[in-house]
Amino acid sequence: MQALDGVSMEIPAEQVTAMIGPSGCGKSTFLRCINRMNDLVEAARIEGELLFDGKNVYDGDVDPVALRRHIGMVFQHPNPFPKSIYDNVAYGLRVQNDTDNMDERVEEALKRAALWDEVSDQLDKSALDLSGGQQQRLCIARAIAVDPNVILMDEPASALDPIATSKIEDLIEELAEDYTVIIVTHNMQQAARISDKTAVFLTGGELVEFDDTETIFENPEYQRVEDYITGKFG
Ligand SMILES: Nc1ncnc2c1ncn2[C@@H]1O[C@H](COP(=O)(O)OP(=O)(O)OP(=O)(O)O)[C@@H](O)[C@H]1O
Ligand SMILES: [Mg+2]
Repeated sequence: MQALDGVSMEIPAEQVTAMIGPSGCGKSTFLRCINRMNDLVEAARIEGELLFDGKNVYDGDVDPVALRRHIGMVFQHPNPFPKSIYDNVAYGLRVQNDTDNMDERVEEALKRAALWDEVSDQLDKSALDLSGGQQQRLCIARAIAVDPNVILMDEPASALDPIATSKIEDLIEELAEDYTVIIVTHNMQQAARISDKTAVFLTGGELVEFDDTETIFENPEYQRVEDYITGKFG
């Protein structure tokens, strides 16, 4: 089956772009196209171009592992490694053999992920002993430690309570000062609150409308988009 069809959009750098749409419309599939995570899905086939800094990430000479260093990802369910807090954040740097000033860089990533104050005196503790919201911020710290350009987030707060969610939302807005953030969310208020641009996908993997978030939520071009946003279908 075809998950996405004729999707064309230009995602602005250093802003937050939200992707919304009903379940099964292809949001996660699209997100996974961006850093070639779909390469790991055996049956997946992709046509077209996806330009990152002007270069098609599907060109034969692109190394997907190197690409994912520039385009990191945070998943719906926090997935820290069964290692210490410190080792989780240091992981990507060690893989890259880039271990100068490790302590400072771990601290910096944890600060940027708004977790440092809660964990600074227990960096040796297992990441699995953190709360869900803390684990998710740790996963964000792990993603930003390698200094990517883009961070993809697939429903990063859907497993969290409202307080943890609001921390993640604040964090996303801050991250967008330095990173390009692309977030999939089912939460319309969340998309409206934190994103600059919103892409609306509807059933069949069609990108129906992509515009400034304010326009999408206040004055969308398409009736189908308005119906979806106001809860009339979807
Ligand atoms: N690994 C896979 N193998 C085969 N089909 C898949 C795979 N992943 C997704 N699909 C199919 O692709 C379509 C789009 O799925 P996708 O997960 O991208 O939707 P989504 O918009 O993220 O939905 P949700 O909001 O429920 O997360 C669905 O029909 C789904 O069944
Ligand atoms: Mg999904």
